[in-house]
Amino acid sequence: MLVHIVYAHPSNSSFTHGLLEAFIAGLAEVGHVHTISDLYAAGFNPVLSPEEYARESSYAADLPIPADVAAEHALLDAADAWAFVYPVWWTDVPAILKGWFDRVWTVGWAYHPSTLRRARKAVVLCAAGHTADHLRKTGLLQSMEAVMLADRIFDRADHKEFHLFDGSEALPPAEWELAERRHLERAGLLGREIATS
Ligand SMILES: Cc1cc2nc3c(=O)[nH]c(=O)nc-3n(C[C@H](O)[C@H](O)[C@H](O)COP(=O)(O)O)c2cc1C
Repeated sequence: MLVHIVYAHPSNSSFTHGLLEAFIAGLAEVGHVHTISDLYAAGFNPVLSPEEYARESSYAADLPIPADVAAEHALLDAADAWAFVYPVWWTDVPAILKGWFDRVWTVGWAYHPSTLRRARKAVVLCAAGHTADHLRKTGLLQSMEAVMLADRIFDRADHKEFHLFDGSEALPPAEWELAERRHLERAGLLGREIATS
């Protein structure tokens, strides 16, 4: 299976990067191949231009799209499954990934009409400083999950999953050490099981 990963974190020594590496190792272990949009490393421009705004807001699907956006479409269309790997920042994806959705989810490809190649599966790997318990009690987890799965992925994938890797800021160091190990194992498992729904 070919998996396209959209990754958003500026640091290679981060926990989120560890999740990315574990996920990729899991994929490789069972023979899956991957492509990646490493948004920070690529210097992806997340800012919608006035021309893009004009196209999107008037549903003008016949107007051209920028080359960097077309390149993202090609990577997603070529893949059987998609993965989004990022840390939660202010209860959402980092701005560079929010801008990626603003620019890449274009009219005539993502919707009105949707001409993209539906993914068999889309998985979200989201690192969080708070515990899942706290994020659930405050309703923030449900909100983050709904935005990613019900809006951004929506019916663009046959199966979709949101996985939270929580507690990096909230847990005491000894507990975090164990939790981090468990999280990295789970990220590897998600890679190994990408072909199952
Ligand atoms: C700018 C910024 C905003 C953050 N906002 C949140 C937040 O809203 N909720 C949360 O649970 N964690 C938040 N965090 C914590 C990260 O999500 C957390 O540290 C995560 O595990 C990523 O760790 P990493 O940067 O080592 O990959 C924030 C971190 C930063 C740098």
